[in-house]
Amino acid sequence: MHRRPSNGAESGSEASVIALACGMPKAELHVHIEGTLEPELVMALARRNGVALPYPSAEALRAACRFRDLQSFLDLYYACASVLRTEQDFYDLMVAYLRRAAADGVVHAEIFFDPQTHTARGVRFETVLYGLRRGLEEGGRALGLSGRLILCFLRHLGQVEAFAALAQAEPHLDAIDGFGLDSSELGHPPSGFAEVFARVRSLGRPAVAHAGEEGPPAYIWEALDILKVRRIDHGVRALEDPALVRRLAASRIPLTVCPLSNVRLRVFPEMAAHNLPALLRAGLCVTINSDDPAYFGGYLNDNIRAVAGALRLSAADWYTLARNSFEAAWAGEAQRAAWIRALDAHFARQGYPGAGSA
Ligand code: HPA
Ligand code: ZN
Repeated sequence: MHRRPSNGAESGSEASVIALACGMPKAELHVHIEGTLEPELVMALARRNGVALPYPSAEALRAACRFRDLQSFLDLYYACASVLRTEQDFYDLMVAYLRRAAADGVVHAEIFFDPQTHTARGVRFETVLYGLRRGLEEGGRALGLSGRLILCFLRHLGQVEAFAALAQAEPHLDAIDGFGLDSSELGHPPSGFAEVFARVRSLGRPAVAHAGEEGPPAYIWEALDILKVRRIDHGVRALEDPALVRRLAASRIPLTVCPLSNVRLRVFPEMAAHNLPALLRAGLCVTINSDDPAYFGGYLNDNIRAVAGALRLSAADWYTLARNSFEAAWAGEAQRAAWIRALDAHFARQGYPGAGSA
């Protein structure tokens, strides 16, 4: 067990615990860059690129952000992504996200992108990758945060198309830090992508997969045993399977949980019903993330405020969540240790000196 704050950890007022948590240095490990496309930027890019949209205004688009389930969200998400055409568009999208993330205390972001969404519309793979990569490098340097890019295969397009996307990526592996699996989960189990993830491993790249968001615990087992992923994205349904919980706890396989997303997509009926506290109590390496912040009501600190307002998390829990984010990040040990020192210093400054000693 790592060390957690103890002194006064349960005694802070709700407001001071929220300030403590929002001010923490932290890593964001589950955010889709296309899901950071704010309605105002959708409208601006539609004008810039001459793309016709069925929404007359940013307000109308925002009002359309009411979802029944994952698929109803994905339909809008892919429609809005059609305004992204040029390298500059992808660059602008990345820099806009990094500004928001830095303002929330994010010091490291591991960011998904969905190239198939764009190449299917005739946008070149390199246009997408170069714009995002340059945005990540220049924006990250200016704002003082580091980043990784994770290429996600769209599971609804199947494995043959995933192999085609991987073939486009292979000449650029130095600019792609890992591979993931997203889009419509039900009916598209991880086992259908066994061979393409074997190829990813043979290329020496780490893998993650969305599993157990809407799909059953069996999909999480498949992601672990067949795709051999390093992290599970979402994974909240793991709690339905005690053997799986034991496996995840023992291996410290992280779950990148996205609370506002889960409520907006009706994985849980309301935040008060979210199983985040139970995942923490089970000893899992849980992290908090924003997923698609432009669609789900906010960025990382909006997720923190929503969780803190509905669930009884202590200062020690918030410390654990931030520390888990650094444990789960793809970084060298010296960098990880530096982040954790900064986290301990934050807790000490805020009057929770137990961070490094309990
Ligand atoms: N789940 C699956 N695919 C996605 C998501 C998600 O939450 N966001 C963007 N693509
Ligand atoms: Zn996601």
